Amino acid sequence: MASSFGVLFRVTTWGESHGPAVGVVVDGCPPGLPIDRSLVQRELDRRRPGQSRITTQRQEADTVEITSGVFEGASTGTPIHLMVGNADARSGDYDEMRDKYRPSHADYTYDAKYGGRDWRGGGRASARETVGRVAAGAIAQAVLRELWGVSVVSYVLQVADVRAALTQAPSREQVEAHITRCPDPTAADQMEERIDAARKAGDSLGGIVEALACGVPPGLGEPVFDKLDADLAKALLSLPACKGFEVGSGFGGVTMTGREHNDPFYMERGRVRTRSNRSGGIQGGISNGEDIVVRAAFKPTATILREQATVDRQGQETVLQPRGRHDPCVLPRAVPLVDAMMALVLVDHALRQRAQAGKVG
Ligand SMILES: Cc1cc2nc3c(=O)[nH]c(=O)nc-3n(C[C@H](O)[C@H](O)[C@H](O)COP(=O)(O)O)c2cc1C
Repeated sequence: MASSFGVLFRVTTWGESHGPAVGVVVDGCPPGLPIDRSLVQRELDRRRPGQSRITTQRQEADTVEITSGVFEGASTGTPIHLMVGNADARSGDYDEMRDKYRPSHADYTYDAKYGGRDWRGGGRASARETVGRVAAGAIAQAVLRELWGVSVVSYVLQVADVRAALTQAPSREQVEAHITRCPDPTAADQMEERIDAARKAGDSLGGIVEALACGVPPGLGEPVFDKLDADLAKALLSLPACKGFEVGSGFGGVTMTGREHNDPFYMERGRVRTRSNRSGGIQGGISNGEDIVVRAAFKPTATILREQATVDRQGQETVLQPRGRHDPCVLPRAVPLVDAMMALVLVDHALRQRAQAGKVG
């Protein structure tokens, strides 16, 4: 199992949903940067379960402990170890799923691959694994901000068929203003109603998170296999329940002609700019200095509180009636995950650019 990610800013997540703890080791963080527990805790609070009635009701404070790599409020350059205890695991809720495979979850495939699995809460396939990513992502965001003035903002763009209408890049405050994390208040209210209705019906919904990275200097990305868009796609598609990735115009671009689609260049105060940004800030796998714009599609949550046809570990066809506390829509909680994965890719590529070219931008 590959649990590590990144080349120079390398993170390794560990832990299972119902084990004693989950966490991450961050190796390669530059020394002397202001990092403390509260900075990481802030991001974990955005991810934690039980934060509103439209998320899972598992109650976890997700209090982070930093046991290495930070001294007197700054990174030391040595590996940073971050750990969060699992407090509210109810493994009994999973008795029904011990032998029966949840449709569209990872139960069957983990068994097929490893010949066994930690069935309590989904083990490593649980979104609890992303605690480590969000903790590491908080550090990555701090490094990006501190060294290069780069910021990342993600938000819910769509839930089911309700789509936000946005005229400009939202702020973090606007994203956090609504429990759906959609910065369009009208669409956000409709999304909330739809998620609530799905929850009451024991069903689930999917949607899209859009992410912007602002202030990214030109030159990040390593053609040909570690192109910036290729690494962002891998980072986002490695998130649980993520099923689609777009950069810039994405799939919508196929209906345009080249004349309509091209981003014309112009000069602004000695800087090369583009008048439109259908490239999503990346050309040839390298950032061009415009905002990076990507979208990640998340499927409807697999565990629904409805009877479903399935098979068990013995190969018998059977019926599953799941219990437990699940997200009726993963989108609001996926936002800090997308922020984290974007930041991890960008900080890694900035450090790689600095190592090869001696400078960034
Ligand atoms: C924030 C977040 C919360 C999630 N919560 C649940 C959940 O409560 N129940 C569930 O069945 N899946 C949940 N998932 C998705 C599963 O972890 C995922 O569908 C499963 O590991 C199978 O992987 P796949 O969907 O990527 O194929 C969640 C995903 C995210 C990103």
